[in-house]
Amino acid sequence: MFITFEGVDFCGKSTQIILLKKFLSRRNNKVKVIREPGGTFISEKIRNVLLDKKNHQMSDETELLLFSASRSQLVNHVILPYLEKNYYVLSDRFHDSSIAYQGYGRSLNLSFVKSLQKFVIGKAIPNLTFFLDIPIEEVALRMSKIKKVNLDRIETSKLDFYEKVRKGYVQLAKSDSRFITINGMLPKKDIHKEIITELEKYEGKIDVYKK
Ligand code: TYD
Repeated sequence: MFITFEGVDFCGKSTQIILLKKFLSRRNNKVKVIREPGGTFISEKIRNVLLDKKNHQMSDETELLLFSASRSQLVNHVILPYLEKNYYVLSDRFHDSSIAYQGYGRSLNLSFVKSLQKFVIGKAIPNLTFFLDIPIEEVALRMSKIKKVNLDRIETSKLDFYEKVRKGYVQLAKSDSRFITINGMLPKKDIHKEIITELEKYEGKIDVYKK
């Protein structure tokens, strides 16, 4: 089972991934957690190039291609092999991030970005994608609360960029039933409960098909 988590920066994905991993491990499932960009030797190198503030001259096209190259390594060397071994693979971001950030956010040609992602992910299509939705004012609030001195290159972009990214996710979620939109303003434990409910609903459907 392949589950991805999406949303704008500071939406709370990482916390939910930790909670879901614990839940699945308690149920004796094998779990592999990955994050994007990164996760393989080559992908981590690409991550450093992408997030390095010194690289402010990076064109939007280069950015898209680097995220995609990093993802391609991850799909072939980690995701597909683990899925074959019946792991639950939980990914902090995946191809929808490129569609939302580079396609909607940076306004690159949307149909090209989507076809490129299809090419990159191949058979690694997520079973479920949890989109944690928060208003952009909340992003600003969480950013200032965390008072991260070292915001990365993309996090320092303006908030209207995040607004475009959020709208992109909303569009994507409407167009595909694998998306589950969750209100990211709810308390952490309520979000976790909703994720478990949705996962069990999905697993119930698969069991029915198997019978
Ligand atoms: P990261 O520090 O991992 O952020 P987060 O923990 O919020 O996911 O940095 C990833 C940044 O890169 C984040 O701002 C989202 C952005 N990103 C893209 O623009 N396109 C992509 O395809 C991916 C995977 C991430």
